[in-house]
Amino acid sequence: MSDSQAQAASRAAAAIVESLPPRVAFAGGLWRTASPPLLPGEAEGVAGALEARRVEFAIGRAFARQALAALGVAPCPIPRARSRAPVWPEGLVGSISHCDGFCGAIAARGDLYAGVGLDVDSAAPLARASRPLVCADGELDDAQSRNGLARDSAAKLIFSIKESVYKAYAQATGDFLDFLDVAVELDSPSTFLARIIAPHRRSPPGGPDLAGVFGLVPGFVFSAIGISSSSRDQEHEPKSTSMDKASRGDRPHQDAYPA
Ligand SMILES: CC(C)(COP(=O)(O)OP(=O)(O)OC[C@H]1O[C@@H](n2cnc3c(N)ncnc32)[C@H](O)[C@@H]1OP(=O)(O)O)[C@@H](O)C(=O)NCCC(=O)NCCS
Repeated sequence: MSDSQAQAASRAAAAIVESLPPRVAFAGGLWRTASPPLLPGEAEGVAGALEARRVEFAIGRAFARQALAALGVAPCPIPRARSRAPVWPEGLVGSISHCDGFCGAIAARGDLYAGVGLDVDSAAPLARASRPLVCADGELDDAQSRNGLARDSAAKLIFSIKESVYKAYAQATGDFLDFLDVAVELDSPSTFLARIIAPHRRSPPGGPDLAGVFGLVPGFVFSAIGISSSSRDQEHEPKSTSMDKASRGDRPHQDAYPA
């Protein structure tokens, strides 16, 4: 691990902490020591996997336990479901993401969030051939004109956003989205709106409009979202979700991440 990799991971972790929805705990960065141990029931999730994948899985679990610890949760196993999603302790939700040079996890209380999603990816542009599978031309046009992003970078950002939405939505509804089931709009330099546009998909508790955060930092693109567990937002304040609360600075705890 080079110093510059470590610095890039550290900057990405700081940017994620800074932008997270309220009451969402984060732990992540570069894992600096030997591969962490798995707890009972977790090894089955990577049975037969290559060593690199076992290490990645174990680091994700270790950061997830750190994020849970920030919520006062004692270390506990986080096995893998048949869907490949992590199984969080009763009453909690969370999300894990890893890419080359970075791993992170978020966690939150289930009475606040029906699901949360985190995605961190390398900033390398999305392959041109993949663009139409991931986003509509209108989404790219919008991202380019509002945020001044190159088309390839805009596509990568939308990809990341849809991955975090996928994770949070699956947790909140038990249903699984395809890329084109979701339309993304970047409504500020650091926040997005994602609308579930496929009529056959279940609506999350707060309705089909979901709000989240994103960032582009040297080497990485990230996105995070919390789907409120309450339907109140939808009934009384259609657009007031985690994004608005985050931008109000309603963030009672800032979560430490490994230095
Ligand atoms: C599951 C998926 C989103 C993971 O994203 P990724 O960019 O490949 O990889 P990440 O490192 O960010 O995330 C991997 C982690 O996602 C989590 N994950 C896997 N399946 C999941 C699911 N169904 N729900 C929630 N989280 C899931 C796991 O924690 C996994 O890490 P682990 O196996 O070490 O625990 C992706 O592989 C996938 O299958 N996407 C479906 C395609 C799609 O249509 N996406 C967007 C639609 S809107």
